[in-house]
Amino acid sequence: MRDFDENNITDAVVDRYQNTPDPRLKRIMTSLVRHLHDFVRDVELTEEEWSAAIDYLTRTGKLCTDKRQEFILLSDTLGVSMLVDAINHRFAKGTTETTVLGPFYVQNPPEADLGADIRGEAEGEPLYIDGAIVSEEGAPVANAIVDVWHSDAEGFYDVQLPELAEPTLRARFHTDAQGNYRFWTILPRYYPIPHDGTVGEMLRATARHPFRPAHVHFKIMAPGYETLVTHLFVDGDQYLDTDAVFAVKNSLIRDFTRQSPGVAPDGKKMDGAWRRLHSDFVLAKAAARTSAPAA
Ligand code: BEZ
Ligand code: FE
Repeated sequence: MRDFDENNITDAVVDRYQNTPDPRLKRIMTSLVRHLHDFVRDVELTEEEWSAAIDYLTRTGKLCTDKRQEFILLSDTLGVSMLVDAINHRFAKGTTETTVLGPFYVQNPPEADLGADIRGEAEGEPLYIDGAIVSEEGAPVANAIVDVWHSDAEGFYDVQLPELAEPTLRARFHTDAQGNYRFWTILPRYYPIPHDGTVGEMLRATARHPFRPAHVHFKIMAPGYETLVTHLFVDGDQYLDTDAVFAVKNSLIRDFTRQSPGVAPDGKKMDGAWRRLHSDFVLAKAAARTSAPAA
């Protein structure tokens, strides 16, 4: 067939995928072509806009290195990462909800003993975090791996501060026989996502801000359970309703309670004010996904 026009070209392109051996790939390519063509027809894309889009994607790709992934950041800011997360984590009610991993996770973080202080040289309000990792039935999950990481009191992650000699405000803990974890750190602050690249360009052009509300990241792994990637957000943060990456869920907002000088739960004597975050995490059994909700 020849002489394609704006009305019949979509079916012709879709038809070209009829012999795709992998049925999943066939479905994805077919749907992608239909949605992409519908989008171009919908906005009546001009040649200048098409060219600007190609240039934008080319520059986005050129920013990607082993340390920076601008395409994931673009996916995050377009809400695609959280949509994929939601579709892939339809676990039973009662299990802890998930959020994005983000670009600041480091594989195999430094191991730390329960109760350790992970603040290193970072200045800030002391924060004691503790709780238990449990199953849906409330059984403790012993020896679970609990990776934690968060920003400092100025909103920077250690990986953004080349002057730091050692990983800071990140660690790997293992829960005890009762499924408990505990550690000291400092209160994190809200911060802007990296916005010196093409994602920042898109945010500025559309009058969007780059900020994320203050949070602590957790990645929790245990045999027989789905890996849980989540954060706990500081209640009252000014960016909870406008998170640049759409990752806030009500069930993950916590009161990081203000504490007066005195004795902390681990017996440590505190001369000044400090905060406490007490939170349990409920893991879903491995492969416990429920099917898609009815349309
Ligand atoms: C983060 O929370 O570390 C993060 C998540 C998505 C994009 C940028 C940062
Ligand atoms: Fe973060």
